Amino acid sequence: MKVLVTGGLGFIGSHTVVELQNEGFEVVIIDDCSNSSEKVLEGITAITGKSPLFEKLDLKEKSLVEDFFKRHHDIEGVIHFAASKAVGESVDKPLLYYENNIGTLVYLLKELSKKDRSSFIFSSSCTVYGQADKMPITEDAPVKEAESPYGNTKQMGEEIIRDTCKVTPNLNAIALRYFNPMGAHPSAEIGELPIGIPQNLVPFITQTGVGLREELSVFGDDYPTRDGTCVRDYIYVVDLAKAHVVALQRLLAKKNKANYEVFNVGTGKGSTVLEVIKSFEKVSGKKLKYKIVARRPGDITAAYADTTLANEELGWKSQYTLDEAMKSAWDWEQKIRN
Ligand code: UD1
Repeated sequence: MKVLVTGGLGFIGSHTVVELQNEGFEVVIIDDCSNSSEKVLEGITAITGKSPLFEKLDLKEKSLVEDFFKRHHDIEGVIHFAASKAVGESVDKPLLYYENNIGTLVYLLKELSKKDRSSFIFSSSCTVYGQADKMPITEDAPVKEAESPYGNTKQMGEEIIRDTCKVTPNLNAIALRYFNPMGAHPSAEIGELPIGIPQNLVPFITQTGVGLREELSVFGDDYPTRDGTCVRDYIYVVDLAKAHVVALQRLLAKKNKANYEVFNVGTGKGSTVLEVIKSFEKVSGKKLKYKIVARRPGDITAAYADTTLANEELGWKSQYTLDEAMKSAWDWEQKIRN
């Protein structure tokens, strides 16, 4: 069965392609390589023994998207990762984010709406909850006003899909709200490749560990949490990738209860920034240089998932611990720096 993975050379996309191929799906990747490299294909092939089809294509080119679906009329499922994701950049360049993340989504949904039947998985984010009032966060927690154009594209993206599904019975969609993805494939053949200075905690830690960054700045230790640093739900990227496969299988097997569904994808466990640092020190055997600095504007105190719905409906549960995920991130970092 043929599946399109947009952004399939990216961090979460590439790990999902591996899991799809392991499950026997025939994968076609579209990626514009704006934030990824064609070399990732070699890693995917090394792990799975199979090279996915790949087309370098910019989803903003509407006519090329139409042409692509004419040539690949047998695509039955689409997993849509391709999007811009830097929060700060989105504040400076809102139109770029609305064009990249919303414009392309509309083109894709138009193409899928033409089909007799199609299955669509959307990369959403726990960012839609903002600072939720209750922990752990359930899917019915209210969506809060977005802190950035990036966050807004995830909220709007979900609304666009929901509204389209209402009038398109042949379109079946699931939005997966990711908590904080981290780690790399255990083979260290693929992993996260941040461009420039990493904005996210885990790649900043591993780059500091390997000597690429002088020290980590911990953004605030005066939050009302057990050690004063922010709490997040760090989900291993391979677990997250597997959630996409089971979500797609649910749609293909017509087990979905409604033609638009939303699931949290996290571990259900919150870790503080200092606990993540401790995990790094444990698995690497290295002391991490860090200092406490002021809070980062826009950061929320805590976010971790209630994963009951995904456990019960998708039959999915995260398998790996924070230490195991951290070990994979550290192995990957050392490999790419050598
Ligand atoms: C960030 C984005 C969020 C996006 C998510 C997914 C921001 C404000 N939020 O979430 O919209 O959906 O990534 O990738 O960018 N930290 C440090 N020092 C650092 C980096 C991070 O102390 O150098 C802390 C942060 O304050 C936070 C935690 O580590 O408490 C995790 O940060 P990060 O990896 O950026 O993820 P989020 O802020 O949860």
